[in-house]
Amino acid sequence: MSEKKAGFSTKIGFVLAAAGSAVGLGNIWRFPYLAAKYGGGIFLLVYLILTVTFGFALMITEISIGRKTGKSVIGAYADINSKFKPLGWIASAVPMIIFPYYCVIGGWVLKYLMVYITGQGPAAADDGTFFNTFIGNAGQPTLFLAIYMGLTAVVVMLGVEKGIEKVSKFLMPVLVLISIFIAVYGLTIDGAMEGFIYYIKPDFANFSLKTVVAAMGQLFYSMSLAMGIMITYGSYMRKEDNLETSVRQIEIFDTGIAFLAGMMIIPAVFAFSGGDKSALNAGPSLMFITLPNVFESMAGGRAIGTVFFVLVALAALTSSISLMETIVSIIMEKFKLKRIPACLVVIAFSIVIAMLSVLGYSVWSEVKLFGMQFLDFFDFLSNNIIMPIVALLTCILIGYVAKTTYIEEEVELNAPFKSKGLFRVMIKYVAPVFMVVIFLSSIFGYV
Ligand code: PFF
Repeated sequence: MSEKKAGFSTKIGFVLAAAGSAVGLGNIWRFPYLAAKYGGGIFLLVYLILTVTFGFALMITEISIGRKTGKSVIGAYADINSKFKPLGWIASAVPMIIFPYYCVIGGWVLKYLMVYITGQGPAAADDGTFFNTFIGNAGQPTLFLAIYMGLTAVVVMLGVEKGIEKVSKFLMPVLVLISIFIAVYGLTIDGAMEGFIYYIKPDFANFSLKTVVAAMGQLFYSMSLAMGIMITYGSYMRKEDNLETSVRQIEIFDTGIAFLAGMMIIPAVFAFSGGDKSALNAGPSLMFITLPNVFESMAGGRAIGTVFFVLVALAALTSSISLMETIVSIIMEKFKLKRIPACLVVIAFSIVIAMLSVLGYSVWSEVKLFGMQFLDFFDFLSNNIIMPIVALLTCILIGYVAKTTYIEEEVELNAPFKSKGLFRVMIKYVAPVFMVVIFLSSIFGYV
């Protein structure tokens, strides 16, 4: 029995709620480590170009589909063309894969929040021993995973529409301010300037296909694309609001926070590693090792560390709530379940999958799937395999089956579509080619 869902009450409410889903661990935890690893400035440049072209086209497509059909992902694709019904199912597999491991990282964030609240920050500021010991023993990560997933579940069980809008309106601006503060402080640390230059100055010597593949995967993840979320959000959007400017605003928020997170972390990595570039390859652990060192070197580091991890936790929560809400609404619709039983089913399933990621860092650290740990494998499977497939089929559906006018009409309901030319070229020609390249290079040797 699907519940009647309320719409957003203001345009800014919609933008901030969509931004609340988009801005999360992807921006603060994932973006900086990818940028560090895949070339610094050149990664940033490629990412920015992709955001304003490809990301824009795909996001406006998804939100328009949602608003026009008024349906969530499963119904929406079938509505446009019944042959594309399976696409809704494939897209909805993505949140199911991401949600469990997202909660594992969310649990790490809660652990670090506790570390700062209880004044153990100095112990965490080391070369990574503290962090590796933490994730290397399954007990604590499991406990924090359970707390994090429990918090998410409580909100989703209560019903989130109003809550999301209210929380996001307050949270997003605070997150921006605190990020600017930490980023600017980070730049003043000795040796940080070199890292700042690595981060913002594109060096074409660092360019490779991997840069593009990684940036593209990150774009999907960060903007919550190719998984049905933006379709669902679009279905709540008011007809009188301007779609194009809303999409541009969401992009600015999302990319702005990612940029600031990189600025908080990458220069600091340089400063604390004494310019040793191998520190840039630390991957998923970067935020948990580098930032404690930054906080340790700041006056008032304990308070700032606490505020920072509170904000990361809240940003992560708004995202995982939207992930879980999407899965729950699919289960409710498909199996005709009420909200609470549907939530319980989702939690039971997700906790099992999440435990694979937890154990993959501890007792099963020797077990590898295609050469990856479980968490990395789930990340790779969703971002580099399924999302490009969903995006490619969406482009074919809109570019060639329903035709781009399907989207253009919706955008033009209340204002001229300024980037119509760009949108058409992206959806019909550029994006499909990209998707095939990403998909093939993911399969043949990207990792
Ligand atoms: N975009 C979120 C982030 O960058 O953290 C992650 C995410 C949230 C992905 C919600 C998918 C989603 F449905």
